[in-house]
Amino acid sequence: MYIDTHCHLLDEKINDIENVLKRARELNVQKFITCATDLNSSIDAVKFADSHDGVYASIGLYPEYAQQYNDQFESEIAKLAQNKKVVAIGEIGLDYSLLDCDREKQKEVFARQLNLANDLKKPIVIHCREAYGDLITLLKSHRNLLKSGGTCHCFTASKEIASEILKLDLHISIGGVSTFKNAENVRNMLKTLPLSRILLETDSPYLAPHPFRSQINTPCFIPIIAHSLADTLGVSPEEIEVATTTNARRLFNI
Ligand code: NI
Repeated sequence: MYIDTHCHLLDEKINDIENVLKRARELNVQKFITCATDLNSSIDAVKFADSHDGVYASIGLYPEYAQQYNDQFESEIAKLAQNKKVVAIGEIGLDYSLLDCDREKQKEVFARQLNLANDLKKPIVIHCREAYGDLITLLKSHRNLLKSGGTCHCFTASKEIASEILKLDLHISIGGVSTFKNAENVRNMLKTLPLSRILLETDSPYLAPHPFRSQINTPCFIPIIAHSLADTLGVSPEEIEVATTTNARRLFNI
């Protein structure tokens, strides 16, 4: 059994989600963590997870929307997190690729959500783009808030940064980018990771794996990402399946 640890099942680009989930299950992808980016998508994710076997929710505020964070948002998320299908706080983090970005605000909101996740005893799902220096510094200075663990999603950075993430006892999530023809550097980084820290994800509907790059991504592509990772690491697809599923079940308590 595979687990898609990061997807956006309610994104409007995905048509007929019930059928997508059925096909994914036929391909041995049995559990799915649908990730929210703001309050409304958090509410929707919890509702969807609550009504679908094997679907779980990760809720929180995406760095792009940092200005929306306030006490009320925080208490709404805390309330939603009481639902047993909520397995993580995310996606949260830093994104400096945005044109109009207030870095100090993003750091403040990320730190508040680290506190929130720690209070709720939930792991975190981190989104980071062009901000790994500040991310590592901030995580190191808030190490006491990382007791429930977490993962850096869609990780494509260097092996040096990966090593910093591992030292913080966090996981690293691998998606479609690792299969791209021009991603040799990503695959070289993957070879330095212990299997015990790798999770699989699609980030559906974005970043479909090679040779389906132009298509809408769905959890049905998880086996393709797993097989590519097996090739890269020189192990069997079954080993990837067992290791990543064990890691995901332990981290997210599913
Ligand atoms: Ni995402």
